[in-house]
Amino acid sequence: MAYAAFRSIGAYAPSKVLSNDDLAKMVDTSDEWITKRTGIKERRIAANDEFTSDMGVKAARLAIERSGLDKSQIDMIICATISPDYFCMPSTATIISTKLGLGNITAFDISAACTGFVYTLSIAKAFIESGMKKNVLLIGAEKLSSITDYSDRGTCILFGDGAGAAVISTTDNKEEAIIDIHTGSDGEFADLLMSPNGGSGSAHDALEQEATSCYMQMKGNETFKVAVKTLTKDVIEILKENNIQASDVKHFVPHQANLRIIKAVGDALKLDDKQVVLTVEKYGNTSGASIPMAINDIYESGRLQDGELMLLDAFGGGLTWGSALVPFSPVKK
Ligand code: COA
Repeated sequence: MAYAAFRSIGAYAPSKVLSNDDLAKMVDTSDEWITKRTGIKERRIAANDEFTSDMGVKAARLAIERSGLDKSQIDMIICATISPDYFCMPSTATIISTKLGLGNITAFDISAACTGFVYTLSIAKAFIESGMKKNVLLIGAEKLSSITDYSDRGTCILFGDGAGAAVISTTDNKEEAIIDIHTGSDGEFADLLMSPNGGSGSAHDALEQEATSCYMQMKGNETFKVAVKTLTKDVIEILKENNIQASDVKHFVPHQANLRIIKAVGDALKLDDKQVVLTVEKYGNTSGASIPMAINDIYESGRLQDGELMLLDAFGGGLTWGSALVPFSPVKK
């Protein structure tokens, strides 16, 4: 039986910092309000000529190097993004694949908003367990600044840019394997968080092309409540189904949307603060990139050790949600 092992992680954050004080010069807000309501102090913003694929490439190079594989061994690449280099086509995954020189491998994007990385993980697991692929490169990359309305104080304070990547490989050792992944969705809540313009769903005369933007719009307060409920229910279920106690989880890695959402879920699980991974303060919400960026944070700071169990938990536009029980299983040297 082939199992899927989470071998390595990498991430990249652009150098430009956008602080709460910077935002207070652009919209009617303050560092105090943003910090109290979200826990965010600053976020990163990509340069004008720095695309989602460029950030994905930088994260991917690290993940491939740390996997111990030669890049020629990667046989599929999936990119989770809602801010692709180009809307519709080509996919950002194909651009990243070519920039990395991975050859003519399977490459595609998926759209599951902030749950994107957990969705890519479930696809990689299925491909590997079926024997169709052996080494899958996953990327969560976002240039959310390109779809953020910097005149809307309800959204622009939340989002930032960045990328994370991971290599998932086949193994016959069950101890190393990803234990379980949950994914779900409910389009009834689609209007809570959406980019209403720019697609075939926006009512405009196709023959009189209007300039449209893909800016995100959000019903923040309602999103907050649904997020807490959904995230909590999902992690409780995945732990119960796999007979694992919350105390057995070494690192709870939630989607980094809002410190208050993360704390509410952590409290419901009775997690110790030491178990909860937080990067929201410095990166804000980077959607599909947020979970791999957070995993990379504990990896680079030496907190993530071989064999330790991670519980991933995400929620995003769609609505979509997902959770995963993932031991960190680098190749033994
Ligand atoms: N600065 C100052 N005041 C602001 C503000 C800002 N950036 N944004 C909103 N406000 C004001 C509102 O206008 C409102 O004023 P009013 O009472 O005079 O009408 C007041 O603050 C409360 O607004 P509300 O929307 O109820 O605030 P909130 O406590 O829900 O916080 C969010 C707003 C966006 C921070 C919060 O709802 C949130 O984080 N939601 C989840 C978002 C999320 O995670 N999305 C991604 C999911 S993947």
